[in-house]
Amino acid sequence: MRQAGRYMPEYRAVRERLGFLALCKSPDAAAEVTVTAALRLGVDAAIVFADILLVLEPLEPMGVGLEFTRGDGPVIRRPVRSGADVDRLAEVDPAALGYVAEAVARARAALPARVPLIGFAGAPFTLASYLVEGGGSRTYARTKALMTDPGAWRALMERLVRVVAAYLNAQIAAGADAVQLFDSWVGCLSPADYRAHVLPHVRALIAALTPGTPVIHFGTGTAGLLEAMRAAGGHVIGLDWRVDLDAAWARLGHDVAVQGNLDPVALLAPIPEIRARAAQILAQAAGRPGHIFNLGHGILPETPVDHVRALVDAVHELSARR
Ligand code: CP3
Repeated sequence: MRQAGRYMPEYRAVRERLGFLALCKSPDAAAEVTVTAALRLGVDAAIVFADILLVLEPLEPMGVGLEFTRGDGPVIRRPVRSGADVDRLAEVDPAALGYVAEAVARARAALPARVPLIGFAGAPFTLASYLVEGGGSRTYARTKALMTDPGAWRALMERLVRVVAAYLNAQIAAGADAVQLFDSWVGCLSPADYRAHVLPHVRALIAALTPGTPVIHFGTGTAGLLEAMRAAGGHVIGLDWRVDLDAAWARLGHDVAVQGNLDPVALLAPIPEIRARAAQILAQAAGRPGHIFNLGHGILPETPVDHVRALVDAVHELSARR
């Protein structure tokens, strides 16, 4: 989150040559940036190079008009705003996203056996927010408006659950050792709205995944939603830096694993400060089994690569089993 990205010269070189979408759609190039980033950083697991929004493209027979414009974040030119728009969405043939499964297979083959490969997808709420808003949003007002039309909202969630389940199962079949579900923007919801309009759909999605593969259920701004997210499912719950890891884990229960939760902005600080903050998080995890050290959200483009390396080294040193 993000292992490969604009902060890495190796990634920028490939990205300049191909463009972002073409890079995602080229299994060889996507596998290459996945493996290069993981080995360069020395992390314990790799995440396949793709994007949560790829799954939205084939929902419209003519495409939703997905573009990654430089500097502005992703844009969807033909957003879904009404029940009638939802009714027009196509049932996606998983083969339309076969390039991601192929990238998983190639990255898995190229990675050392000791490095697990994580597949991923967006969760239904976060995907719907992009599809409805047409891009990022501060308020999610249009998405919340569609929620007040229960039939349209349910139809949209059910459509997304089907495509995401098939997409993740294809990544698992291609060799993903674990999968992460990104509900990045779900923290904008009240607990009551989450329980009524999101939880049942995430639960159905997780229940539809191939058994035996660990599922990481991630969100940000979720301090008010942790128990409900746990109820929705996942072997691991992702935590951002707005919660204390120890208190959040106690609330969730120590029989579920947690992932997190360094503030990505901390990576801009001098290395001794980064080490101190990593140590604080590890102290909160207290050596319990079931903590995956990670950032609480994605890496900023201006992050120095040697700071990321220093973080990885610090975590390895400070958590080494004696
Ligand atoms: O982490 C990895 O290396 C795996 C690849 C990955 C990307 N996107 C590549 C990417 C992953 C796991 C994602 C997930 C993703 N994409 C999320 C969920 C995680 C999160 O950050 O909350 C979301 C919300 C998206 C949608 C998205 N894609 C946004 C908002 C942006 C623009 C903002 C940004 O961070 O650049 C993207 C573009 C994107 N996806 C980039 C990368 C490497 C940057 C594109 C570039 O300019 O090269």
